[in-house]
Amino acid sequence: MNKALFALFCLLLSWWWWLSLERIGPVASLTGWTLTGCTLFLAAYQLRKWLSILPLGSAQQWMQLHVWISFMAAFIFFWHTGLRLPDGLFEWALYSCFAATWMSGCLGWIVTTTMPRRLARHGDVIIADEIPVIRRQLQLAADQLALDSVSDTGSTTLAEFYQRRLASFFGKQTHRWVHLTGSRRVHAWLDQEFAQIQRFMAEPEWKNLNQLRELAFAKINTDVQGAGTWLLRRWLFVHIPLTHALIVLIGFHIFWVYLFNAGSI
Ligand code: HEM
Repeated sequence: MNKALFALFCLLLSWWWWLSLERIGPVASLTGWTLTGCTLFLAAYQLRKWLSILPLGSAQQWMQLHVWISFMAAFIFFWHTGLRLPDGLFEWALYSCFAATWMSGCLGWIVTTTMPRRLARHGDVIIADEIPVIRRQLQLAADQLALDSVSDTGSTTLAEFYQRRLASFFGKQTHRWVHLTGSRRVHAWLDQEFAQIQRFMAEPEWKNLNQLRELAFAKINTDVQGAGTWLLRRWLFVHIPLTHALIVLIGFHIFWVYLFNAGSI
């Protein structure tokens, strides 16, 4: 039903456009105003979020429209600019800002649609607010295990290994960008570290070593979940300021065009 309504909306819009093209004359003016309308509609998504108590349609419907209109806006952008390169500093700023806003939206869309599944595939999904708590619990457990290993076995090998190689790893979120690329470099690094130290340990110490390994791999999962939720939240810190800058630049562009060219955006 939603799709049928949207198709009807597009059809009516194209029809109106077609009629206007014949009447209005300069295509640049029509495409310019349509592009401005599309951009304002896309930017209004933020207002929609602030006014979520008003019955303005569901978040999902807005999201669908946002994506459709943004693709339409890209098409109109190419039409409006005639695929020619920008001329002068201001035009470069305007083109780049549109392109950066559009691409940040696309990247964000890919992140919001793929990241939750990727995080679920990696291991236990942890909600963002719990990540620091779980990380701290793992750190305390690892500290304790290193201490206990001295009294349990009378050897300091594990405690020293922990202090030298793992203490800072357990202390904070690490390898954010490595995890975001989906690389398993950190897993491989830990495997190598544990395999190496195992060679210097007597068999009775292996039990503690294995427990430490489990804690370290659980810590990797908190880092992966932490990196994913960080990106899920932070990409909007790029997309939103770019949107605001774009609106300002479009405002200047319209002012400039009407001041000097008397009418064609
Ligand atoms: C000129 C183009 C665009 C403008 C001006 C624009 C503007 C905005 C604004 C203002 C928000 C609301 C942010 C908030 O308050 O949470 C938003 C969110 C979003 N936009 Fe765009 N956008 C554009 C292009 C795109 C494109 C091309 C895509 C992807 C195809 C996209 C995907 C998204 C997504 C996924 C969200 C977040 C939805 C959510 O978290 O609920 N945007 N955009």
